[in-house]
Amino acid sequence: MSQAQNPTDSSPSDEVKSEGYSLQDWQQLYLEDDLKWDIGEVSPPLLKLWEAGNIPREGNVIIPGCGQGHEVMFFARNGMHTTGVDFAPGACERLSRRLEQEGLNARVVLASFFDLGTGHNLFYDLMFEQTFFCAIHPDQRSSYLETVCRVLKAGGVLAGVFYETGEDGGPPFNTTEDEIRKRFSEYFKISLLEKTQHSIERRKNKEWLGVFVKR
Ligand SMILES: C[S@@+](CC[C@H](N)C(=O)[O-])C[C@H]1O[C@@H](n2cnc3c(N)ncnc32)[C@H](O)[C@@H]1O
Repeated sequence: MSQAQNPTDSSPSDEVKSEGYSLQDWQQLYLEDDLKWDIGEVSPPLLKLWEAGNIPREGNVIIPGCGQGHEVMFFARNGMHTTGVDFAPGACERLSRRLEQEGLNARVVLASFFDLGTGHNLFYDLMFEQTFFCAIHPDQRSSYLETVCRVLKAGGVLAGVFYETGEDGGPPFNTTEDEIRKRFSEYFKISLLEKTQHSIERRKNKEWLGVFVKR
């Protein structure tokens, strides 16, 4: 524990915690306004996917571990029925305030992604992933897969960026192309998986952009 890692981008308290962060840890970071992961804008690779028409542009979209919700704001602004989920009250309060200030309509759900109620089952056309997969402990990745499959419609799309930090510990926890292919190809057709050229500077060559279609 307690070794600085990726100090410019990530480890919220600059501390490696092999067991991952608890709800209280995340909430504390919101209270301290210590949001090193927050890039202050919608994820640029998402923007490119959207502009290229490579993801659904209407219907229901969910953003898990949405934080302050730049992606939530983006989809809401663009007319999608948008749901942001975060278990930290500080994240949901910030996002709700921002939505109100911009007069945008989106649902903000204060809950663990893994505990979403049955009303979310098979409801979504799109899930967008941005620094949530890397924020949870790797032991939770199977639950992540189960939950995505539970909430997406058949033919629904999981799109997002997956962080290859190349480092031990976390958050953010490392992943690799091999892991992504193995985990997702069981339940999804992988229609795109490439290192994106559109990452922000400090994440260059570290983000896998994926578009996966639920079988
Ligand atoms: C690294 S931050 C990313 C926030 C946002 N996606 C962004 O890129 O700015 C991870 C977020 O996931 C949330 N989170 C972690 N575990 C969660 C869980 N099990 N369910 C819902 N949210 C969770 C944290 O509260 C935090 O807001």
